[in-house]
Amino acid sequence: MNDLDTIVSSAQAAFAQAPTPAELENAKARYLGKTGQITELMKGMAALSVEDKKTRGAAINLAKQAIEAALNARRQALADAELQAQLQAEALDVTLPGRQRGQGGLHPVSRTLERIEQIFGSMGFDVAQGPEIETDWFNFTALNTPQDHPARSMHDTFYVEGGSAEAPNLLRTHTSPMQIRHAVQHVKRYAGNAGGLFAGDMPEIRVIAPGRTYRVDSDATHSPMFHQCEGLWIGTEVSFKDLKFVFTDFCRTFFEDENLVLRFRPSFFPFTEPSAEIDIQFTSGPLAGRWLEVAGSGQVHPNVVRNMGLDPEKYIGFAFGMGPDRLTMLRYGVNDLRLFFDGDVRFLSQFR
Ligand code: DAH
Repeated sequence: MNDLDTIVSSAQAAFAQAPTPAELENAKARYLGKTGQITELMKGMAALSVEDKKTRGAAINLAKQAIEAALNARRQALADAELQAQLQAEALDVTLPGRQRGQGGLHPVSRTLERIEQIFGSMGFDVAQGPEIETDWFNFTALNTPQDHPARSMHDTFYVEGGSAEAPNLLRTHTSPMQIRHAVQHVKRYAGNAGGLFAGDMPEIRVIAPGRTYRVDSDATHSPMFHQCEGLWIGTEVSFKDLKFVFTDFCRTFFEDENLVLRFRPSFFPFTEPSAEIDIQFTSGPLAGRWLEVAGSGQVHPNVVRNMGLDPEKYIGFAFGMGPDRLTMLRYGVNDLRLFFDGDVRFLSQFR
């Protein structure tokens, strides 16, 4: 192997090993650059005879061409590889299915609330919303549950900042304060500035108030946050039989069961007199034959009617408070209340 062959094969090897275009150009400079090996050989020809120049020159030119050919081939190979890599990186598989947003759905308790609103709406009830942070007055006192009333200890209350030492603010323990809030607004619209207890004429109060309520309580059937829906009907001739009719109609419609049986069991609430707990019984299905408590109710206590700004000699009515969470459990056969609030999509998506 003569010196030219050695240079050519060394150049070919160097080019083949150059991993990037930049390194390839560096390698090229070592052979074809101003001080490259081939250039140096050209310069060395000056000392040769004319005859030798011809043969040596031709040989060097051949070597140079071979090196240039190897250089171009490698340049092309590197460019091809780069293009391939780019194409691969930007590859678009048009056969893949499009990206879609997962389909959402209403929470089962929201479904129940909508259903309650729809059914009571069809019976002429308005829907009222109120604050979850309440004053002692609306949550207890106005509902005939004064400071030292034993019924207060039935509610394990979350107290919050604000209010006074005797009447601290709290997270409402039930939706019953909405009875007062809504009735006071309603009465204001018709009573004018007369003052005292209103005994004039006004349209009936017929309202439900669904929403979140809070108690210090947590197990399979209790959650510190839960839902209630209050109902209130105040007029001049509203009686306990109207309560029975309305609530029976509601339950049968809600559970889509015309044979559902209701029981009004005597009970006590400070804001109603008489009071009743309402139990239902299915006549078929897995829960058939058991009494299931769904609501508290009663005839609104005269003291509460007064706190609404109404004269209890003229105005009378009934109220009820039910648990939409429990209604949801009964309707769908769910046995653990906490499932509703864990936010596990595997559970919730079953209600889509
Ligand atoms: N507020 C009661 C509770 O949370 C439920 C209740 C009972 C509401 C009787 C009422 C009622 O409106 O008349 O236990």
